[in-house]
Amino acid sequence: MIFMTLLQPILVTCGLPYANGKCHIGHLRTYVPADIFARSLRKQGQEVVFVCGSDAHGTPVMVNAEEQGTTPEELAKKYHAHFDEIFKKMDVEFDYFGSTDSQSNHNRTLSIVNALIKSGYVYSMKIDLAYCPKCSRFLPDRYVEGICPHCGSHARGDECDQGCGKHLEPGEIKNAVCNSCGTEAEYRSQEHFFFKLSSFKDFLLDYLPDLGGTTNARNYAIKWVNNELRDWCITRNMEWGVSFPDHEDLVVYVWVDAPIGYISFTEEWAKREGKNWEDVWRSDSRIIHFIGLDIVYHHCIFWPAMLKGAGYTLPSSIVASGMVKIEDRKFSKSRGYVLWVDEDYFGHGFHPDILRYYLASYTSHTKDLNFSWEMFQQKTNSELAGSFGNFLYRTLSFAYKNFEGVPDAKVSSETMNEIKRAIDANTASINNYEFKQAADHAMLLADFGNTYFQSREPWKLIKTDKNKCAEVLKNSLQIAKALIILFEPVMPGLMETAWKQLGFTGNIHTVSYREAFIELENGKKLPKPGIIISKIENSKIEEMEALLTERIGGTLEKETEAQRANETV
Ligand code: 2FM
Ligand code: ZN
Repeated sequence: MIFMTLLQPILVTCGLPYANGKCHIGHLRTYVPADIFARSLRKQGQEVVFVCGSDAHGTPVMVNAEEQGTTPEELAKKYHAHFDEIFKKMDVEFDYFGSTDSQSNHNRTLSIVNALIKSGYVYSMKIDLAYCPKCSRFLPDRYVEGICPHCGSHARGDECDQGCGKHLEPGEIKNAVCNSCGTEAEYRSQEHFFFKLSSFKDFLLDYLPDLGGTTNARNYAIKWVNNELRDWCITRNMEWGVSFPDHEDLVVYVWVDAPIGYISFTEEWAKREGKNWEDVWRSDSRIIHFIGLDIVYHHCIFWPAMLKGAGYTLPSSIVASGMVKIEDRKFSKSRGYVLWVDEDYFGHGFHPDILRYYLASYTSHTKDLNFSWEMFQQKTNSELAGSFGNFLYRTLSFAYKNFEGVPDAKVSSETMNEIKRAIDANTASINNYEFKQAADHAMLLADFGNTYFQSREPWKLIKTDKNKCAEVLKNSLQIAKALIILFEPVMPGLMETAWKQLGFTGNIHTVSYREAFIELENGKKLPKPGIIISKIENSKIEEMEALLTERIGGTLEKETEAQRANETV
């Protein structure tokens, strides 16, 4: 295994979901692999702190609250509870799931902003900002739409979300229009505060090449730093958020207090557990952020500069997941190309682990992941139910029927070597953020088990050579044990059931990889096994496809053409 166990805990975090809407498969693309990573690290003997929380502030929450006729606070609370519930249902098991509106996050943000001010990294300047004469208010970030000054695409006020992906500074967007009433914006002068990001260029060019994680994050960031690095306006004319020191009319930009949530959630966790948060954030520790590709700029450039300026530990790795497609089309909530986790998945009785396996094993973590119901069925039926499930069931039921448990025999060195090969390859892949490779290595062990069982024909041996048959079953059961341990990070719920079927009463989630090399006890009784992973019927997939088609509705063809045109740009 290539992972070096450290004395201090490793902090693993996930990008914070905006508390403004429901959880969809795009979110899970980041959270499920991060959970697999945290679980696997623990199985390797490493202490891990896994934190996340909801992103409560900013215009994403304000705009949606306005649309829904509620307050940002109420909306943020509602979706905080929603995400917390979905993550629990998906077995994404954070040690702490906080909210950026917590008192400790307000305090930590103030402390960091004050530290940056004190060190001379913050200055004030008058800028022209979009203002809606009809709504009589300034139009920060998502309150305004217009044209990206860099690439000419239609863009949101703070981000060219449909074009070049660049972060846009207040006042930069062209042809600004008020998002709520459609009125052309005017520009008015206002005093705002800026973070001297440009003065961190040398630091970033030194820091980024050694940053761990995925190359997509690192390479994008280095390119951006080399091209341009402009100072960031870190204040907004709003009431909802963390107040800027000594300026009651201003709050800090949401991208300041959101990542600071990683620190305050660690503090909140540490307080609850009687630990010291500074062991992570003020020491030589490892901090690994799992994020989506769309927020690389914020995590690789803005965030490390802020931490450096305020004297905190820098992230050691940034792991950026690729985007999600639905039935080979660009993910789009408005066009209906989306999978809502609660209503479209749990609402139809699917087990969380099947989706976890799909997300981990469909493609490399950094590539685009396509979700299609047909592929979902195919992978479930052939890999999970067919290869892995079949091996578990045939091994356990043969041992139960013919030996009433673990037969009296010794595990061969070939079997142990095969298990070792699988565990080494699996963990090396996980430590390299190659979750598909990791799942494939585990599945290869299941294939090996099936071939072994099939070729030894224990159903014949039981009649002719019971000792030999016992050996085959002992080896097969040991492979089953290793497989359950190997797959626990990916399918924690199903593996809990499988672990019990192997006659264990303890907690599979705390079992280390080393345990896979401990021979099953001869004579150990096994309970009557059952099928753990069932095949998905064609009719179920047809039902799911019909629902998706209905959602996409009569506009399917028109939207598809428009979308294709958009995709070829
Ligand atoms: O892009 C988003 O959805 C943000 N809410 C992510 C914030 S991650 C972090 F920095 F807090
Ligand atoms: Zn652009």
